Amino acid sequence: MSAGEAVLRLENVGKRFGAVQALRGVSLDARAGEVLALMGENGAGKSTLLRLMSGVHPPDAGRILLRGEPVVFATPHAARAAGVRVVAQEPEIIADISVAENVYAGALPRRGRLFDRSALRAQVAADLARYGFTGVINPEQRGRDLSPAQRQIVEILRALTGGARVIAFDEPTSSLSDHEVESLFRLIGQLKAEGVAVIYVSHRMKEIFRIADRILVLRDGASVGERVAAETAEPELVRMMVGRDLSTLFPRSERRVGDTVLRVRHLTTEDVSDISFEVRSGEVVALAGLVGAGRTELAHAIIGDTPILSGQVEVDGRPLTLRSPRDAVRAGLALAPEERKQQALLMKRSVRDNICLAVLSRLQKWHVVSRADESRIARRYVAELRVRTPTIEQEVSTLSGGNQQKTVLARWLAREAKVLLLDEPTRGVDVGAKADIYAIIDKLAVEGSAILVISSELPEVLGLADRIIVMQGGRIRGELAREGATEEKILSLAILEDAA
Ligand SMILES: Nc1ncnc2c1ncn2[C@@H]1O[C@H](COP(=O)(O)OP(=O)(O)OP(=O)(O)O)[C@@H](O)[C@H]1O
Ligand SMILES: [Mg+2]
Repeated sequence: MSAGEAVLRLENVGKRFGAVQALRGVSLDARAGEVLALMGENGAGKSTLLRLMSGVHPPDAGRILLRGEPVVFATPHAARAAGVRVVAQEPEIIADISVAENVYAGALPRRGRLFDRSALRAQVAADLARYGFTGVINPEQRGRDLSPAQRQIVEILRALTGGARVIAFDEPTSSLSDHEVESLFRLIGQLKAEGVAVIYVSHRMKEIFRIADRILVLRDGASVGERVAAETAEPELVRMMVGRDLSTLFPRSERRVGDTVLRVRHLTTEDVSDISFEVRSGEVVALAGLVGAGRTELAHAIIGDTPILSGQVEVDGRPLTLRSPRDAVRAGLALAPEERKQQALLMKRSVRDNICLAVLSRLQKWHVVSRADESRIARRYVAELRVRTPTIEQEVSTLSGGNQQKTVLARWLAREAKVLLLDEPTRGVDVGAKADIYAIIDKLAVEGSAILVISSELPEVLGLADRIIVMQGGRIRGELAREGATEEKILSLAILEDAA
C-alpha cells in the first residue's frame, strides 16, 4: 500500500446513546504511513469514534470503508481480523501468564497439539528487538508484575503481531514516563515507515505537534475541521476545540500567604528520604520531578497511607499520629490521588453520589445531609468544572474518560480541605477544563487552603505555583521561588546528578 492512500475511511458516521448525540456526521480518512490526531474537549466524541471503527459499537448512521470497500465490523474481533485495532488504555492482561503468552494469547505457535514454548520465546524476543523494546520488558515476566507502560507495550505488540494496518491510540501517554513516551514515539515512527495508518488521540499539544501529520478536531460530536499539523499553531487548535479564546490559562488572584498549615519534618519512608518542607495558608506549592522521583509516595505518606519510618507531619503546628488516611481526613488533609479512576470512582453510581462521597463523611457527624444539599453541591461542581453529563443522576460509567476524571476531582475540591494534595490534577482533561481546574485551585488558595500540587507538566508547575519543590530519587533536590523559576532550572534539579 502506497503512502497517503486511505486505508480506512469513516463517512458521515453518527452515534447516539440515549439522550446524548455522541457523534453526528463525522468523516475521517486514515492514510497509510500517516499519523492522524484526533483532538477535542472531554466528551467531544473521540473515544466513541474509535469504538465505531473497531467494532465495539455499530454506527447509527454513515458507513465505514476499508480500502474503498464498505465493511461492517460486528465485533472487535471482526475489526481486528480486518487489521483495524485500538490500543486500549487499560489493556486486558492475564495476570498468571507471561508477557510472551499474553502477546500471542489466541495465536500461540504450536508443535502438534502443544504450543511450542521455545518458539514462542524466540518469536517474542525477535518482536521486542524489532520494535526497540528489548530491555524495557522481559518476555518471561508475569502479567501481574507489569507497569502501566509495560501493559501498553504488550497491547501494542498484540496489535503489531496480529498484522494490524490501522492502529489507534486513545491517550496512550497518560500513564507513561517521559522516557517511555519517547519509546512510544519511536515506535509510532516505525509504524509510519511500515505503512501503518496511525490514529492518535491526546490532549497534549506538544505530543500532537511532534507526531501528527494531520489533526481532526471534534466539538460536541461534530467535526470542526481538519488541519495539516505543520501549517497550524496551537492557539488556532484551542479555538477550534473549545470555541473560545483562552486568554488566561492560569488565573492568579492576589493570594495572601498566611501561617504554616502543613509542615513535614525529616520524613522518611521506604521510598523517600529526609523530606522537610512546609506549605502555608493561601499558598500553592508544586512538587516537580520526573515520574518515579517519589512525589506520589510522599503524598501518600503525608496522608498516612504509607508507613512512615521516621520524621513527622504537622498540621497547624500539631504533630499528627497518622495510622490511617481517616486520621488525615480528620486533621483536614485531603489527597486527590493520581490514579483517580481505579482508586476512586464508583462506576455504577451517579455523578452526584461520586462527588458527594467525601463531603458526606465530613458533614455527617454534625448533621444529616439532605438530598437537596447533595444535589446543590454536585450541581455547583458540575458547572464549575464543566463536567459534561446530561444530569447529575447520570451513571458515571457512561461519562467520557476526562469527565470521569473531573468528577473525582470535584469530590476532593468539594471537601474544601485545609490542606489539599492534588496528584496530577489535570491528567486526561482537555485544555478548557484545565483552565477551569486552575481557576478553582486559585480560588481555594485565595480562600486560605494550603495546596500542594504534584505535576509533571512544567508549564502547569510554573503557571500555578508560588513555590516549586523539585524531587529526584526520593529526595528534595532544591526549591525555587516563582520569580525566576524556569523549565530549565526545574529540569536540571530533576535530572542532573549532583555530588551532594
Ligand atoms: N455507553 C455510553 N452510554 C451513554 N453515553 C455515552 C456512552 N459512551 C459515551 N457516551 C457519551 O458520549 C459522549 C462522547 O464520549 P467520548 O467518550 O467519545 O468522549 P471523548 O472525546 O473520548 O472524551 P475524553 O477526552 O474525556 O476521553 C459523552 O457525552 C459521553 O458521556
Ligand atoms: Mg476518550
